[in-house]
Amino acid sequence: MLRIAVQSKGRLYEDTMALLAESGIKISSSKRTLLVQSSNFPVEILYLRDDDIPQSVATGVADLGIVGENEFVERGEDADIIRRLGFSKCRLSLAIPRAIEYNGPQWFSGKKIATSYPNILRQYMDKNGVQADIHVITGSVEISPGIGLADGIFDIVSSGSTLVSNNLREVEVVMKSEALLIGNKEISDEKKSILDELLFRIEAVKNAEDKKYVLMNVPTDKVEEVVAVLPGAKSPTVMPLAQEGWNSVHTVIDEKSFWEIISKLKELGAQGILVLPIEKMIL
Ligand code: PRP
Ligand code: ZN
Repeated sequence: MLRIAVQSKGRLYEDTMALLAESGIKISSSKRTLLVQSSNFPVEILYLRDDDIPQSVATGVADLGIVGENEFVERGEDADIIRRLGFSKCRLSLAIPRAIEYNGPQWFSGKKIATSYPNILRQYMDKNGVQADIHVITGSVEISPGIGLADGIFDIVSSGSTLVSNNLREVEVVMKSEALLIGNKEISDEKKSILDELLFRIEAVKNAEDKKYVLMNVPTDKVEEVVAVLPGAKSPTVMPLAQEGWNSVHTVIDEKSFWEIISKLKELGAQGILVLPIEKMIL
């Protein structure tokens, strides 16, 4: 049995549970106890505050954890990064009141900065040779300049709407962050083989992301040209239609390349183009 620490609520919770579900791992959501066992895969989920996940993995309370890179780097706990998960992307930035002029990191010299990420911030200030007064608070960092508690803040920015609604502007991006799968450094062989199966499934889900299954009808004399336009990994499937002179062409492409080639396909006479989502993909 592998124990995975996940955030009990907040930024990462939904995407984490969706990834587990897409990987075919059933976790009952009605039972909101601290520890919930999967009904069809040898894992149990330990729900924690994100701040506590790195330590729980480093000490072996949990074997794995899904946590924001921001939290992992800030805590400085000794655990392995097993895989970057590509969701919950955000950045850790410095922000100051909108109307104030800014002239680079030196602006913060002698200023008071409110943050929940003192270690990352201190490192950045040291690197830039700036002496600032770092003031640690755990919530609602963004309101501190407005109430005179600090001159600037250092916090997570995602959409940026929290900054806008507090009349702040982002002046330095210090680090980018996304969800990480982290692991204890000494995992038993038995747990390692469950982890390998889990990674295989995550890989299949991730490979399918942003990929589409595309099928279309193409006049036989245009098949060669259509195939040349399609960027699929392997060569596409071409099958004759019942109607003479037409073929069905199937392939897998990136969603964004689809928008680049669609007009070319229509020009070549492709018709009845269908674009379908792909759930899993094993390469
Ligand atoms: C973070 C941060 C901001 C907000 C920024 O809080 O402290 O309040 O997100 O996001 P935005 O740019 O999309 O407005 P979060 O919701 O992660 O809660 P936490 O600080 O308690 O972890
Ligand atoms: Zn937090």
